[in-house]
Amino acid sequence: MQINVDSGLSASIASALAAGLLSLSLLSGCAGDAHEGINPRDAAQVAAGERVYRTYCAVCHGAELEGQPEWRRRLPSGRLPAPPHDDTGHTWHHANAELIAMVRHGMVPPLAPEGYESDMPAYADILTDDEIRAVLAFIQSRWSDEVWALRRQMRH
Ligand code: HEC
Repeated sequence: MQINVDSGLSASIASALAAGLLSLSLLSGCAGDAHEGINPRDAAQVAAGERVYRTYCAVCHGAELEGQPEWRRRLPSGRLPAPPHDDTGHTWHHANAELIAMVRHGMVPPLAPEGYESDMPAYADILTDDEIRAVLAFIQSRWSDEVWALRRQMRH
């Protein structure tokens, strides 16, 4: 089955929202903190996140966050390669709560369609929430001002 991941994910988010199904656990992190504890201007958090990134993520997402070659083309398995986390990817399209949920649980509903197959691991049993927030702070510290301006328009 051909799924355009980005629109597939957005559509599934939209339908989950429409159905009021977006899990409370996903939203609960929002209370009082719009940034979900992710602060790319916090040098200590970014440094801790870089260590997590190099240990767990760089093998697939690339030492320079560049993703795997031809990351838009499906592998023989039918799954997608790891996308970049820099400006050229679509990580920055996602709100912080979604990014945390993806790293915790992998590509599962409501952030991916039911039965979606992905090589993105779930880190809930491997990384603490602080480590997950830190690795996302590191990734976000690499985004350009242009990407931040676009991201703000998306109200993240
Ligand atoms: C075994 C390879 C692999 C490892 C290791 C890995 N990822 Fe991924 N990741 C993927 C793949 C493949 C995707 C694309 C999933 C899809 O759409 O099917 C992905 C997608 C993502 C996405 C969603 C990007 C988007 O734009 O939708 C995020 C965020 C992410 N990974 C973060 C991480 C972080 C943080 C780590 C380290 C803690 C990590 N990944 C480790 C393979 C990996």
